[in-house]
Amino acid sequence: TPAPRIAPSILSADFARLGEEVRNVVEAGADWIHFDVMDNHYVPNLTIGPMVCAAIRPHVKAPIDVHLMVEPVDALIPEFAKAGADIISFHPEATRHIDRTLSLIRDHGCKAGLVFNPASSLEHMDYVMDKLDLVLIMSVNPGFGGQSFIDNALVKLRQARARIDRWTEAGGHHIALEVDGGVKVENIAQIHAAGADTFVAGSAIFGKPDYKAVIDAMRQELAR
Ligand code: DX5
Ligand code: ZN
Repeated sequence: TPAPRIAPSILSADFARLGEEVRNVVEAGADWIHFDVMDNHYVPNLTIGPMVCAAIRPHVKAPIDVHLMVEPVDALIPEFAKAGADIISFHPEATRHIDRTLSLIRDHGCKAGLVFNPASSLEHMDYVMDKLDLVLIMSVNPGFGGQSFIDNALVKLRQARARIDRWTEAGGHHIALEVDGGVKVENIAQIHAAGADTFVAGSAIFGKPDYKAVIDAMRQELAR
């Protein structure tokens, strides 16, 4: 199993100083940059797109983990690949043809992920395991930073972990298990114990003045 990864969500960063923010958070120990794309259609909020991804790309070497909360999905995939995205994830209910969208992401040279809302069934995973590089479990309803962790996500993480382990034990490739929403120093150990290996945190990191102190405290919890 790989070392746990911390993926700060720039949704809670200062958008007026985004280049500096991503540099600072990577210097503070972030593994990935989590990039939340919202379209005021799939979710009731509007954020950033491929142009902003391209603008931050030269500032850091860390993988950019694009979380698409948009509907439809497909037209944005070539755009984000061109903009330097490393991982692109989408919600199964936001595309007509899940298998095709996953292939499209890989065809553009990116890793592909499926995102499950708090009440969405994990069943979609089973038919596309060979095309998945990442599974993202939402622990809040998507749309906003700063919400509190929905406890049932721990159950969902254990179920996703079991599916991934079964796949890997049968000789399948590595699939990351990421969690997004309400992750903080106080609950990260418990979330890790439920099987997550990649942790998105927005307000918990960007809401504090010292990013390194928060990331270090998270790593300490993860090492327990
Ligand atoms: C929510 C986004 C999250 C969000 C997490 O729709 O997908 O990535 O920024 O923010 P926190 O960590 O503040 O819950
Ligand atoms: Zn996200």
